[in-house]
Amino acid sequence: MYNSKIIGLGKYVPDHVVTNDDLSKMMDTSDEWIQERTGIIERRWIKEGSEDTSAVMGAKAARIAIERSGVTKDDIDFIVFATLSPDYYFPGCGVQIQDLLDVPTVGALDVRNQCSGFVYAVAVADQFIKTGMYKNVLVIGAEYHSGGLEKTTRGRGVTVIFGDGAGAAVLSRTEDRTRGILSSHLHSEGKYAEELMVAGPSIKHWVPEILEANDPNDTSYYPYMNGTFVFKHAVVRFSEAIVEGLEANNLKKEDIDMLIPHQANLRISQFIQKKFRLRDDQVYNNIQKYGNTTAASVIIALTEAWEEGKINEGDNVVLAAFGSGFTWGSVIIKW
Ligand code: UT7
Repeated sequence: MYNSKIIGLGKYVPDHVVTNDDLSKMMDTSDEWIQERTGIIERRWIKEGSEDTSAVMGAKAARIAIERSGVTKDDIDFIVFATLSPDYYFPGCGVQIQDLLDVPTVGALDVRNQCSGFVYAVAVADQFIKTGMYKNVLVIGAEYHSGGLEKTTRGRGVTVIFGDGAGAAVLSRTEDRTRGILSSHLHSEGKYAEELMVAGPSIKHWVPEILEANDPNDTSYYPYMNGTFVFKHAVVRFSEAIVEGLEANNLKKEDIDMLIPHQANLRISQFIQKKFRLRDDQVYNNIQKYGNTTAASVIIALTEAWEEGKINEGDNVVLAAFGSGFTWGSVIIKW
């Protein structure tokens, strides 16, 4: 048995900044409402005509992560890609990364766990490394939300929250069992699947049926979120996942050096920070700049925290996420 260690991190966000005031020109919303309810000031959206997609942004972030890792693309043994906004209905983005990065013809797996996607993807990669099956696994979280959002007042409850971007990590084998990913904790509760979802097009609500009905009130292909309901569950599940991870490693909340929560809403992060009595320097937030980038949010935040020198050798780093499914989980890392 081995442990896996993060040896390279990278991120990529599109250049195009969309402010809250920009959104208020498209729909009935305001900078004041968005900042007060979510903490978001601006987000990045892929500009029309750009080459960026989830796979392309994922590849850009991955090139940086590989470059910083000290291994080469030819050393990558497996690819795990988390997204809810893949370039194609199928195949998934993982195989596109194999091609875009010209990685040898290794296995590529897509993880579909929405906001918990990166936490799930790290847990998957960690298992392959622990057992000795693979040595270096490339893990990516990327989302191209802006193309699929309803940019009118009808969609404002969801559209103002989401942003585009990507992050990537190279996980590698270490024989030091006291370092790297110490444990991961994954959960789901499918009875709430319809509280945060995109219903169609899907096999249950397929394209010919949608075209034939030609119903202007059919919003099934836009994201639906029961915001208040999701919020209430998020604060409970976030806390549970963090406590579970700490207990599994005999750690106390004061042992947390850096908590990277999924960037769903600044109010959720602040609630968790208060509940665990963490100082500002123990929690990393960047939702103000990027909005909620779903499967990319934890890895973009982790990368930025590391780039800013806020994560150091020996630190206890906690990743935690909650989202559509419902799914939630945590990863405990000894850096
Ligand atoms: O990442 C996956 C997990 N996601 C989450 O954890 C998100 C959890 N939920 C949330 O973050 C919050 O529920 C939201 C930010 C989505 C919404 O905030 P809220 O305080 O729960 O607002 P609400 O949905 O209860 O809406 C309050 C009012 C409504 O108007 P009425 O019915 O009181 O007249 C909405 O129509 O705000 C209205 N509203 C808006 N007004 C201006 C909804 N969206 C907007 C908007 N601008 N963008």
